[in-house]
Amino acid sequence: MYNLLKGKKGIIFGALDSNSIAWKVAERAHEEGAEFVLTNAPIGMRMGTINQLAEQTGSQVIPADATSMEDLQNLVDKSMEILGGKIDFVLHSIGMSVNVRKGNHYTDQNYDFTTKGWDVSAVSFHKVMNVLYNSNAMNEWGSIVALTYMAAQRVFPDYNDMADNKSYLESIARSFGYFFGRDQKVRVNTISQSPTATTAGQGVKGFDGFIRYAEEMSPLGNATALECADYTITMFSDLTKKVSLQNLFHDGGFSNMGISTKVMENFSGEY
Ligand SMILES: NC(=O)c1ccc[n+]([C@@H]2O[C@H](COP(=O)([O-])OP(=O)(O)OC[C@H]3O[C@@H](n4cnc5c(N)ncnc54)[C@H](O)[C@@H]3O)[C@@H](O)[C@H]2O)c1
Repeated sequence: MYNLLKGKKGIIFGALDSNSIAWKVAERAHEEGAEFVLTNAPIGMRMGTINQLAEQTGSQVIPADATSMEDLQNLVDKSMEILGGKIDFVLHSIGMSVNVRKGNHYTDQNYDFTTKGWDVSAVSFHKVMNVLYNSNAMNEWGSIVALTYMAAQRVFPDYNDMADNKSYLESIARSFGYFFGRDQKVRVNTISQSPTATTAGQGVKGFDGFIRYAEEMSPLGNATALECADYTITMFSDLTKKVSLQNLFHDGGFSNMGISTKVMENFSGEY
């Protein structure tokens, strides 16, 4: 390991179980010398195994529903107490669509569910940054990252209303990132990750076909959760200080592909 995060303090949202991308980020951050607080929604804590990760990484867990300003304020205040100072890095690794869960088609949504999913998956990022910014909780040259997916730019029909949530999330990164950079020298980016076999990922209808297609389209193959963690660590390190307001594709090259020879093989023969 390289001590890339030696002396850095962070908050990591969204480690549900050992498949979670946030779980891998926590493991890698620990290996690179960081100290951090883990957090998840109370229901996520009951369903998952976050306490095991806390033990493994010597971290404390503070429950917070990322849609609740009160929970977020408590999280940020307590994290600064526990870590003994301001925060250097934050990972927002949160996504949930009630329409997807309930099997509602994109063209026939329940808008209460739409609003709930938007709040959890997108507005929560604004709320997290609101609390950090107004509490002056981030150190200069700190780094904030949220995870996203390319359905924000291109059509993936079964990604449903999460596509809209991800567009909104990426826009928040730019808009809030401007003020965070200008006023507090903190950078804000989104990482657009390949399909990954996690609880949230597998909630997408037709996930197996989806992940296989992306694998065959990408010149380097899909990026794994661990590879995503590695990339996220570089974004938290001092090696990427001037990268901000970006949506960074971490997808084995998928996002710039038109067609690959492997996928072409499925369409051979006369037209
Ligand atoms: N898995 C993929 O294919 C993939 C691809 C690109 C981007 N992403 C994104 O990566 C992020 C992490 O997802 P994952 O794939 O690791 O799945 P995951 O299911 O392990 O993580 C999602 C997390 O969101 C948390 N969460 C849900 N509601 C919350 C709330 N109200 N407050 C706080 N936390 C809440 C869950 O408890 C869970 O820990 C998400 O933003 C997801 O959209 C995933």
